[in-house]
Amino acid sequence: MHDILPAEIWRWQRLEAAFIEAATLHGYSEIRTPILEPTDLFVRSIGESTDVVQKEMYTFQRHDDSLTLRPEGTASAARAYVQHAVQALEPISRWYYLGPMFRAERPARGRQRQFHQAGCEIFGDPGPTCDAEMISMLVSMFVDLGIGELEVSISSLGGPETRPKYRSVLLDFLRPKAADLSEHSRARIEVNPFRVLDSKDEGDRAAVEGAPSILDYLSDEDRAHWDALKTQLEALEVPFRVSPGLVRGLDYYNRTLFEISSSAGELGAQNALAGGGRYDTMVEDLGGPKIPAIGFAMGLERILLAMGESERVVEPSCFVVPMGEKATIDGLVLARELRQLGVRVDVDGRQNSLKSKLRRANSSGARVCAIIGESEIETGTVQLKDLLQHSQEQVPRDRATRIIADRLLGSTPRAGGND
Ligand code: HAM
Repeated sequence: MHDILPAEIWRWQRLEAAFIEAATLHGYSEIRTPILEPTDLFVRSIGESTDVVQKEMYTFQRHDDSLTLRPEGTASAARAYVQHAVQALEPISRWYYLGPMFRAERPARGRQRQFHQAGCEIFGDPGPTCDAEMISMLVSMFVDLGIGELEVSISSLGGPETRPKYRSVLLDFLRPKAADLSEHSRARIEVNPFRVLDSKDEGDRAAVEGAPSILDYLSDEDRAHWDALKTQLEALEVPFRVSPGLVRGLDYYNRTLFEISSSAGELGAQNALAGGGRYDTMVEDLGGPKIPAIGFAMGLERILLAMGESERVVEPSCFVVPMGEKATIDGLVLARELRQLGVRVDVDGRQNSLKSKLRRANSSGARVCAIIGESEIETGTVQLKDLLQHSQEQVPRDRATRIIADRLLGSTPRAGGND
């Protein structure tokens, strides 16, 4: 779990702003849910045989309740959807969220125990159009953020007709291979054979090579959904790869499944930037009506790694250096006037030397420094130092606020200068 210090927070804020803008443009509204939920919510929705539930949840007992720090956002969103009977308010809901999630995984580059996700969920739309739009939105956002080497993997897990059919085909394939599988995977064959395909164990991966593809067993309806998704993605010019072996770490998915990874920047093995899919039965499983749903979440830490270094855009600001008691009072007033006009201001009210305050002004990144000393108070003036151009001029105090604001915000030509 990491601190995010002010020196790096601007990158986060930029990414979050880009996400919020993209989500808003696509008609999503923000939902904020508690970070703690009853443990049972995650067990029921994410699935008992998943790594998240078996090994990674931060769970504790409080009085008679077992509570868990949310390992992801979808279960909470669906819980809120059911609890507030949102389907009675609107036929389709588009929600987005941002925030910390918690999984007790082995830390590595791009894998933290507290990490941050931004995600979107759509309730009430069976797709496939919204599925295609969601994937396309993600890809455009990553491209706009300058992330290259993107790989979009898609698959379909089918629905209630397809799954049992494929499950039995998969069982026939896996059972004879039980001896070659890791103990962990062997234990999962009968409980959840789909999970075996997701094993990270090298021996398991070799053993499941050549496993039957679920795409060959899709029911007619599932196939129509799948084909339409591909057609629409092509129309939106989203390059994708069909990956029948794509299994995600959560059990709630059906039909559309997708993951976007990148080999750009400083990303290492943890290169999945975002993943998602349909979960058409979760709302009903949590006690709500039959409402289809789809969503994704992206890992902000990983996206920042993939984005690499970028230039910080610093808003122009003013540094006020008052020298002496009266000047300090006037410096405070000047700062307040400037902030009322939207200028960022830092006042150095310490009783230090002019030299040390100017040194701070220079390293602060401010564009303009306003110096007020005793003689400026007497003559009703302010010394304006342009820290970029290394020039200085004296301006009347009663015009100083306007002059500084105009110079920094650029609304009118610089007063007192002809450059
Ligand atoms: P997920 O694949 O478990 O899906 O996580 C989504 C993304 O969160 C991953 O692609 C990755 O970028 C990031 N992530 C996951 N675990 C970590 C970690 N330990 N450290 C850093 N980043 C991490 C979900 O969470 C689903 N709720 C997505 C979804 C929404 N499906 C439907 N709706």
